[in-house]
Amino acid sequence: MRRNEEGIYYAIDLGGTIFRALRVEVGAGSVVTSRKVELPIPEELTKGTIEELFNFVAIALKDFVEREDGKDEQKALGFTFSFPVRQTSVSSGSLIRWTKGFSIENAVGKDVAQCLNEALAGIGLNVRVTALVNDTVGTLALGHYHDEDTVAAVIIGAGTNACYIERTDAIIKCQGLLTNSGGMVVNMEWGNFWSSHLPRTPYDISLDDETQNRNDQGFEKMISGIYLGEIARLVLHRMALESDVFGDAADNLSIPFTLSTPLLAAIREDDSPDLSEVRRILQEHLKIPDTPLKTRRLVVKVCDIVTRRAARLAAAGIVGILKKLGRDGSGVASSGRMRGQPRRTVVAIEGGLYQGYPVFREYLDEALVEIMGEEVARTVALRVTEDGSGVGAALLAAVHSSNRQQGSI
Ligand code: GLC
Repeated sequence: MRRNEEGIYYAIDLGGTIFRALRVEVGAGSVVTSRKVELPIPEELTKGTIEELFNFVAIALKDFVEREDGKDEQKALGFTFSFPVRQTSVSSGSLIRWTKGFSIENAVGKDVAQCLNEALAGIGLNVRVTALVNDTVGTLALGHYHDEDTVAAVIIGAGTNACYIERTDAIIKCQGLLTNSGGMVVNMEWGNFWSSHLPRTPYDISLDDETQNRNDQGFEKMISGIYLGEIARLVLHRMALESDVFGDAADNLSIPFTLSTPLLAAIREDDSPDLSEVRRILQEHLKIPDTPLKTRRLVVKVCDIVTRRAARLAAAGIVGILKKLGRDGSGVASSGRMRGQPRRTVVAIEGGLYQGYPVFREYLDEALVEIMGEEVARTVALRVTEDGSGVGAALLAAVHSSNRQQGSI
């Protein structure tokens, strides 16, 4: 970092079920999170007004900032806002639409950075947004800071998305726009990817019908944390209706979202000989008592299939990016010391589902090898960046506030 970028920066990370605030110390050769707080977002705030949501965020941030730092000097904030945004500058952008169960109507089309700045000013907090970023972009920023071979970032958590570094001249929308590096980050919003080649089961269709953003985010609904448990529940419910595997308890399986993805993961990862954890979950969460071992095995199998499909689709998405970048094995270094060697590629990755579910990670890795072959897969490293989405936003806030001091963009 340059000397004038060193200092204390704040970041907030908003985009899932949990809200995070971070205090980040940016030094000459280091970036350290000195403090962090996590708060669950009350469900009603995801459906109210933007003022209510941002007031909650502003008050939590005020509490966090004023605990340690003075009130006088204005501080720069990196705002990680993980929803589709039409970016108008580094520090502004308007919300295109909500995803992941949020549905605050009066926010669509508004500049979310400006709305947050108003909320911050409204409670007298001397902090202003200097970088507005998607979580994938924050993750890429931190990944790239640590390792320059990082060319893309992927999030697999409540939702899923990816971004990568593209040559500016290859981006039609940006013709005429110059950047110092000649590159630009593309936020793919891959959760909304769809293709007629993607087989859609009746369970995917039922799930889509239950959501507030019907017909949107088809890829995300097959992969990410908000949805996997529900897909498995829909399968089990159909089995209960068409057979007697769950005895009289079929009705108990009819309630949407009673099987969360953490429970699906716990079912799949139960390695006890009598599947006692599966029994407990079925009893306590789905109100299905006394299942025979054979039925519990069947439930594990369903959770396995749903997990495996999700992980393999995510892997296919990652290979798609590598292919676009010529890093899927087709492009090898043509000169220099690495001549004839495939280039080393790092993909920064983050998200509760990926980080908290080892079986998901195994399936994803397995699929990468299957698609690219072992030799090429060995040149690709998926690197977890701890809190990268927030810390990366603080880094970008640091760079951008010093640029502003110098009068450039
Ligand atoms: C959803 C959002 C996207 C975000 C992703 C992961 O897909 O639309 O912006 O990056 O979730 O949080």
